[in-house]
Amino acid sequence: MKIFDVYTQTPIEPVRGSGCYLWDSENNKYLDMYGGHAVISVGHAHPDYVKAISDQAGIIGFYSNAVLNSLQNELAELLGQVSGYKDYQLFLCNSGAEANENAMKTASFVTGKKRVIAFEGAFHGRTSGAVSVTDNPKIISPFNTGHQVTFVHLNDSAAVEKELSAGDCAAVIIEGIQGVAGICLPSDEFLMKLRELTVKYGAMLIIDEVQSGYGRTGKFFAHQHTAVNPDLITIAKGMGNGFPIGGVLISPAIKPVKGMLGSTFGGSHLACTAAKAVLEIIVKEDLMRNASETGGYLINKLTEIKNGAGKGKIKEIRGRGLMIGIEMEPEYAAVRDRLLFEKKIFTGYAKSSIIRLLPPLPLQKSQGDHFLNSFESLF
Ligand SMILES: Cc1ncc(COP(=O)(O)O)c(C=O)c1O
Repeated sequence: MKIFDVYTQTPIEPVRGSGCYLWDSENNKYLDMYGGHAVISVGHAHPDYVKAISDQAGIIGFYSNAVLNSLQNELAELLGQVSGYKDYQLFLCNSGAEANENAMKTASFVTGKKRVIAFEGAFHGRTSGAVSVTDNPKIISPFNTGHQVTFVHLNDSAAVEKELSAGDCAAVIIEGIQGVAGICLPSDEFLMKLRELTVKYGAMLIIDEVQSGYGRTGKFFAHQHTAVNPDLITIAKGMGNGFPIGGVLISPAIKPVKGMLGSTFGGSHLACTAAKAVLEIIVKEDLMRNASETGGYLINKLTEIKNGAGKGKIKEIRGRGLMIGIEMEPEYAAVRDRLLFEKKIFTGYAKSSIIRLLPPLPLQKSQGDHFLNSFESLF
């Protein structure tokens, strides 16, 4: 049997990781400024994380949701404390798409409505509902087109109000910061306005923090840079530092009904243990402060480079904390590949000429300097 060949792959195979570094099969060392799509939150092979999962695997790894599992309650308690959403409820699943699917389903159950408003540039995953609110026709199959979705411009509150005023919307779904679009920030005022409008027209506000959450921007959730409290918040990626786990934080106003959501694997003993270890490390190592400081430092220095050696080559620097987009002029798009092959630094891309930085949260300033010097030397 062969693997179904759907990924465009870089011809490098990381075989080992530690903290913010990776090694390939020829023992070349790479600085990881991408965390495998923002998944590696607390660093590769963090010893506390490795110990927690290894110990748990030797005790009990899984049993179904038809029995009690106090690790789920412990995770919910800790997540409530660390995120500040103590009175919210947690539904556990296995991925970002699944989290969004369940959030939209919940919004639809509660409101009795179908239509969802999403934003141009959005990426919410590949399951049917999630891909239908994703602004990329190439990944939407005919099977996925039955959903009622309207896309509007990011930061255009008049357009949102026009759609919501029809009264048939279950939800507005928005990323805390758009990642796949190339690190595009909703304005603080826009998020506040979305909250006001969704309340006014009886729709739920879903904030997708799958990529922007888990401390990456310096606050636990990107939307916490404003005073907005959504009805539903979706999480995955950094939640398990590589162990598959996702979740939906659900407002206390939404009452659970037996059977309305469910999952075989969601909230397994192993997944909860991984997710608890991640939160404990985030707190113990003050990683949100580090993301804010190191990220702020990188954004300032990158802006200096943009106005210096990168003048006319770098179009824009965007981001918050350790979620940073470097938009290159199209003729300098190859810089990303040069960073990887010449400088041995992993970064991500978005569209054709945007470099995405989503490193592990313990990234040190000295490692940031190594990236900055390598990047600047390419001009
Ligand atoms: C904002 C956002 N939401 C949802 C997803 C989908 O997550 P998953 O691939 O775990 O289904 C992604 C993945 O990149 C994402 O960036």
